Amino acid sequence: MADTAKLVIDQNTYEFPLVKGTENEIGIDIKTLRGVSGGVITLDPGFKNTGSCESAITFLNGEEGILRYRGYSIEELAEKADFLEVAFLLIFGELPTKEQLEKFDADIKEKAIVDEDVKKIIDAFPKNAHPMGVLSSLTSALIAFNPSSVNVDSEQEMYRAIVKILAKFPVLVAWTLRKKQGLPLNYGSKSLGYVENVLRMMFATPDEDYKINPIIKDALDKLLILHADHEQNCSTSTVRIVGSSHAGLFASLSAGISALWGPLHGGANQAVLEMLEAIRQDGGDTKKYMAKAKDKNDPFRLMGFGHRVYKNFDPRAKIIKVAADQVLNDLGIEDPILTIAKGLEQEALNDEYFVKRKLYPNVDFYSGIIYRAMGIPVEMFTVMFALGRLPGWIAQWREMRLNKEPIGRPRQIYIGKNYRPFVEINKR
Ligand code: SDX
Repeated sequence: MADTAKLVIDQNTYEFPLVKGTENEIGIDIKTLRGVSGGVITLDPGFKNTGSCESAITFLNGEEGILRYRGYSIEELAEKADFLEVAFLLIFGELPTKEQLEKFDADIKEKAIVDEDVKKIIDAFPKNAHPMGVLSSLTSALIAFNPSSVNVDSEQEMYRAIVKILAKFPVLVAWTLRKKQGLPLNYGSKSLGYVENVLRMMFATPDEDYKINPIIKDALDKLLILHADHEQNCSTSTVRIVGSSHAGLFASLSAGISALWGPLHGGANQAVLEMLEAIRQDGGDTKKYMAKAKDKNDPFRLMGFGHRVYKNFDPRAKIIKVAADQVLNDLGIEDPILTIAKGLEQEALNDEYFVKRKLYPNVDFYSGIIYRAMGIPVEMFTVMFALGRLPGWIAQWREMRLNKEPIGRPRQIYIGKNYRPFVEINKR
């Protein structure tokens, strides 16, 4: 294969180097295009054909349904690792030794207290505030209590900011839930693991010792691993571009939370449950919703289906579907919503509209069924996605900063009015 690409514009031929990744992906390096061509740029709404960076963190193959974190398959990590181990792998590039993981865990535990004044900010929110808006605000507010999270020009300062946010974010997640439920805002325990503390902080009540259910702990650990990173998705690209202005880690994460909130992205897990619930209340009439999803005049989409990259099964959806069956069975829960979901999946997988467009269930299609079985309210589902994605956002932000990437500033093609002289108001 040639190592350059040629572009012909009018009578001029321009040559650009080809970049080849370790999985043989090819990119055309057009860094010099505008300069050599006298101002010509590329145009690619939604960046469907455009790479924003070279990254060593996560590899996706959408055609074959492959997902790997730092070269390890998602199937093996979901089966054999725990969430903190995967967080370390994503952020620092290698699976930790026992000693490294123990130190990481201890450093995080040291920082797991949040300034009491943050509670005054939580108090100011109405109970019905959407948890994603609360979480994004609290993450940004943490900057005021941890100003050093901004100038992270040294690896040591960056490590400190990373440990702080990994420690405090689960507290904010739990407090966001407990605020809605009118429960006291509590803390974890140094005697528990990372995911066990998430469950304890979310569900412990003041009147009894909280007992960790191993089924729920294992299911949450697996869900968080499956959500931990996903290369340059919308919210991760947001974290990278905000960080590229040298805004601090916490500010970049707060922006990423807002991007994840959208129903086309992480907000889909909540939208899937609401859709399945609507179908249930409609007597299980999946055909009506399939017709709506295919009707170009209807903005409704089959939530939890389709993906920008996966044109085959989302490997995470496969794992979560099996886990959903297992968790509900182990917990002795019969959820009609799971039956409706499976029926809808079968219909879509055999429907020409979905088959032609290669629309398969994605990570959000079954995850909410497990969250619901755990007793997590539907409006908290995307918060759980954010908790899982936190290490991925951190890893991608750190890579962008260590690579000293330039500030993200796309160009545009202007299609507005040409020059026209100002008109006084009495002449308009
Ligand atoms: C996540 O990017 C990531 O990696 C994201 C994520 C991660 O881990 O970070 O994987 C998490 O965000 C998963 C996706 C969750 N979103 C949903 O489930 C919402 C429903 N899905 C769609 O909105 C859509 O599939 C997207 C947003 C996921 C992808 O949209 P694209 O790639 O921009 O595709 P498109 O909108 O151009 O759709 C192509 C065609 C269109 O039809 P035509 O114009 O060709 O006739 O497929 C249709 C679309 O109308 N289509 C759907 C559909 N998804 C796409 N039609 C009905 N139902 C759907 N869900």
